Amino acid sequence: MNSNSSSSFQIKPGGVISGRIIVPGDKSISHRALMLGAIAEGNTTITGFLQGEDTLATANVLRQMGVEIKNDGKIVCIKGVGLKGLKKTNSPIDLGNSGTSVRLMTGLLAGQIFDSELIGDKSLMTRPMLRVINPLRSMNAEISCTDKGTLPINIIGGCKLQGIEYELPVASAQLKSCLLLAGLYAEGITTIIEKQATRDHTERMLSAFSHSITRDEKRISISKADSLIGTDINIPADFSSASFFIIAAIILPGSDVVLENVGINPTRDAMLKIMELMGADIELENKREQSGEPVADIHIKSSDLHGINIPQELVPVAIDEFPVIMVAASCAKGETCLSGAAELRVKESDRIQSMLDGFIATGIQAEGTEDGMIVRESKFNGGVVNSHGDHRIAMAFAIAGLVSKETIVINNCENVATSFPGFVALSQKAGMNIAYV
Ligand code: S3P
Repeated sequence: MNSNSSSSFQIKPGGVISGRIIVPGDKSISHRALMLGAIAEGNTTITGFLQGEDTLATANVLRQMGVEIKNDGKIVCIKGVGLKGLKKTNSPIDLGNSGTSVRLMTGLLAGQIFDSELIGDKSLMTRPMLRVINPLRSMNAEISCTDKGTLPINIIGGCKLQGIEYELPVASAQLKSCLLLAGLYAEGITTIIEKQATRDHTERMLSAFSHSITRDEKRISISKADSLIGTDINIPADFSSASFFIIAAIILPGSDVVLENVGINPTRDAMLKIMELMGADIELENKREQSGEPVADIHIKSSDLHGINIPQELVPVAIDEFPVIMVAASCAKGETCLSGAAELRVKESDRIQSMLDGFIATGIQAEGTEDGMIVRESKFNGGVVNSHGDHRIAMAFAIAGLVSKETIVINNCENVATSFPGFVALSQKAGMNIAYV
């Protein structure tokens, strides 16, 4: 634990966001690079890896399963053990706060010859797991969890997985990726039908590891793999981490900032579309491709916003950005309505309730609905907010502090380190008046 790990943030209003900022590497891509590198043949070298608690939890668990992973803080080198080379751990596999790690790892472990038990922290132990367990059972996996559908998950090894055709009942990239990883071990073809697009990093990365999937509109198919081949992966900056500075620059008058080398995968960047619909001035510069992922420098100037009804098809592809989008909505003329976002209730916290609690504490006019929220133009008065241990709630209210009448203090911010180590220092560099208290 570092000395700031149990601290609160204090943000004073004002300033401008300016300069050129590089946020840490993409969390989703970092998890996938570790997992595929571990089960590939030969070496994988990762640059741009997110040195966050979630991705380090994935790395540690893979080490416990016998994979040699060297991490000097800049470059990660993995000696792949092959599809059948992972080993049983001596103790339960603890994935901390990370939903992505536990759901993807469950798919990977369902195909192994040994038994596994997966656990996590207080938040992860309450999150829904039947969404992965049910389809894995249809693939012939022997797998169980609590009666409430939560961790611990127990997997009996040695089951012969069978490919299935499965329509995703929730728009979830974690579920899709879990089944793709199990599909590497399943006889025949595993086909996933995705009604609404979700992030496609697993599909892209599988082809970088020489195992292609096929995509026919909404049907994604993967065949059993003989091997994956290790490769070099250069990970772009995380769009979800960049989103806090994007919104900060939009709502703070006089701001003009460039976020460098950010992943703009079209299954991730819908927040830009939402902000443009609300009137934001955003330019993508120097567009290019890096390890199979589209990347750009994002140039933002402060803009006047107006409220909108957020199009429902954009919800799954902006899912992690809603806490900070809702902060922007409070600065927009009129009313902004979010619906079709019930998944927000089962993230690291119930993000609809956590945002509402923070809005009530700081004077914003907002109403919660079963699957979303209505936010009306209003001014943050300042006050004390509980992040509920949710990294994205903590960072969203840090941005709110910039446009507040008085100081905002956010408690329980330690989990910011799961996705964005160095958030406070980088925010100070960008022009925010933020400190630990
Ligand atoms: C993720 C998928 C999303 C997202 C999470 C990361 C991933 O979850 O909220 O932060 O890396 O696959 P769902 O797929 O459950 O919506």
